[in-house]
Amino acid sequence: MIINNDTIIKDSDPRIRQVSQPVSLPLSKEDEDLLRQMFKYVVDSTDEELAEKENLRPAVGISAIQLGIPKQLTAVYFEDVDKNGEPVTREFMLANPHIVSSSLQKAYLKGGEGCLSVEEEHEGYVVRSARIKVKAFDLIRNSEVEIRARGYLAIVLQHEIDHFSGILFYDRINAEDPFKEIEGAMTI
Ligand code: CO
Repeated sequence: MIINNDTIIKDSDPRIRQVSQPVSLPLSKEDEDLLRQMFKYVVDSTDEELAEKENLRPAVGISAIQLGIPKQLTAVYFEDVDKNGEPVTREFMLANPHIVSSSLQKAYLKGGEGCLSVEEEHEGYVVRSARIKVKAFDLIRNSEVEIRARGYLAIVLQHEIDHFSGILFYDRINAEDPFKEIEGAMTI
């Protein structure tokens, strides 16, 4: 399957609202190939030249439903800094990721969120949990993992896991007051 900005489904397509189902483990060859291709998309999309040549929109994550496939698969890749300020690459190829706990404290990106399936801008704060714990099978590490995420990684994982429920980031923006201050929230 070719993954590019033409094959990624947009929010005008009702399939983006479909609920995704868990996949069986160990992964089938088909699911494993799909997940690897999704990951490759995200990695390649950050290479300006490749992105231009292959019609890739830059992204930090993608979920299978964005290809019209309702399976709980998501790939994430971006450069980050850890809590000591050291550079770290966040990379995951996740099957069946699910949030097992989340902080009461909220967080949002000051600049708002974007999505490969959303072409228009939707301004406003997308309010999420500041810290989450996610359990999943990770194909990169070839094992079950428990991810303790905070800050940007927590936002990205919540965005991707929302896709499994057919939820898009702008569903979480306060329609009456998109930039309403959230008390005690972490801004990123
Ligand atoms: Co998205």
